[in-house]
Amino acid sequence: MATLITNLSVLAGLGAALLLLLTYTYLVRLNIILQSTPEAIQKVSPKRWTKEELRQTYQRLEKNPITLKDYADRIPPKLDRRYIITGGSGLVGGYIVLQLLERGQPPESIRIVEFRPLNRTDMLNGPASTVDFVKTDISSAESTDKAFEKPWPSSVANRPLTVFHTAAVIVPSDRSKLVYGLCESVNVRGTQNVLNAARKAGADVLVSTSSGGVSIRPIELWISPWKLLTSTKESMPEMKNYLQVMDEKDFFEPPRKHEEHFANYAVSKAAAERIVCGANSPELRTGSIRPANGVYGQPGDNTLGGALAMGGVPDLMLICYSWCAHIIQPFVHGINVAIVHLYFEAILASNPNAPQAGRPFIITDPNPPISYLDMYYAIETLSITPFRLIRLPPITMWFLSYIVEWYSLLPVKYPLLRNILPELKGDLKHMKPGLFSVTTHMVATNENASRAVDEGGLGYTGFLTTLEGMAQEILDWNKEHKDEKQARKYQTSISFADEIAKAAEAAGVMEKLGK
Ligand SMILES: *[C@@H]1O[C@H](CO)[C@@H](O)[C@H](O)[C@H]1NC(C)=O
Ligand SMILES: *[C@@H]1O[C@H](CO)[C@@H](O)[C@H](O)[C@H]1NC(C)=O
Repeated sequence: MATLITNLSVLAGLGAALLLLLTYTYLVRLNIILQSTPEAIQKVSPKRWTKEELRQTYQRLEKNPITLKDYADRIPPKLDRRYIITGGSGLVGGYIVLQLLERGQPPESIRIVEFRPLNRTDMLNGPASTVDFVKTDISSAESTDKAFEKPWPSSVANRPLTVFHTAAVIVPSDRSKLVYGLCESVNVRGTQNVLNAARKAGADVLVSTSSGGVSIRPIELWISPWKLLTSTKESMPEMKNYLQVMDEKDFFEPPRKHEEHFANYAVSKAAAERIVCGANSPELRTGSIRPANGVYGQPGDNTLGGALAMGGVPDLMLICYSWCAHIIQPFVHGINVAIVHLYFEAILASNPNAPQAGRPFIITDPNPPISYLDMYYAIETLSITPFRLIRLPPITMWFLSYIVEWYSLLPVKYPLLRNILPELKGDLKHMKPGLFSVTTHMVATNENASRAVDEGGLGYTGFLTTLEGMAQEILDWNKEHKDEKQARKYQTSISFADEIAKAAEAAGVMEKLGK
């Protein structure tokens, strides 16, 4: 009897040890897959940036910085029209305003409809600072109508009206339908409000900024243990959607289900895009631009600007991204995104039956995608503010992301917990599984946008490459930080989203209180 028990406990011990070993092997292998770079994308983007080419580009730009004048000949000619730009002080909207002014649109023919105050250094002086600014909450139909109905100076009041709708809220990683409200109210209802107001105001062209993220599918992390453990090192299985092509195909197919998008943000941008494109008619021609993937080009952008702003302190945000240095992704400069809005407008304004109308076009910088390591390396090499990259195993971040998601949904599911559980602070709260889908290996195609206009394209060629655009942004950053010890805090669109969420929550509480 005693020997039987001993034998059993030895067996149980062995079993537990084996299970532990298998789990460990499973996770190690999963981590190897998460740190891999598929051969197919290495072929598309084989070269990493070198110190020499970064320095050379930087020095060239130091002598000849990129200014509006440099690409003035790429901006389509001035039109005798009026312009409303929602989000007109943001990354894309701001560049649209600057390009309109550069081509000679009088400031009084332009109106910025925007939630946050104008705070771009390149807009605080000069003609951009004289453009009309109407503080507006697009999630409110009343506020939006008011901004559109405001009378125009008589010199331009009779001109046809173009609307560029670039305003949106960016919440990068929430997936749960339980917290869809914010994206829904600003991005979907907000877009419907802008469209309705545009119609009432008699607009005949509306171009909206969509997102390359609309086409992204969630990546499937968990691979069956059987498959993973029985494969050899050479024949490791692939993670589903680990490498993706960003294009417009999904638009011509039935809408995807909520779970087939990487996050709530994409769900809302897809819905908004269909609202805009679906409204196309000869009276109001519409279309959308999908920037792919991260837009950069201002200190407040979430990609390069966000990383620069970390300074020497390894901020949580950077830790959130530190696992993805090997990831290869396309980026697109705000200047490239803005100018393609103007191409689209020129087409829709000149031809009521343009075949380009009523659909999205994806655009990216005119070069192969880069890796996050390239970007971090550029900062390390060129920035005068300190920068330190800590590389963490992706698998640990994956675990963390599920815990963060679970934890942040608790007070939503159980309101009683709202006052008990401390809220996650800073960028840690964005460390949710959706982040891994939007930060996986990707290529984007300019195939349709770069076609000639008479072949149904937008004639987009791209003005800035990612190397030039990022070097220029770091150059501007260095100029602004010449005499400062620490990195300045700029508001990124993601931190801006937190502010809107807080404001919305406060408004909701007030409403409940009947105030
Ligand atoms: C404007 O930007 C500066 C950084 O250049 C920042 O310090 C300031 O708080 C911002 N102001 C507003 C109102 O957002
Ligand atoms: C280009 O546009 C066509 C429709 O005109 C669409 O069917 C196709 O999927 C698009 N290509 C890409 C790569 O998105």
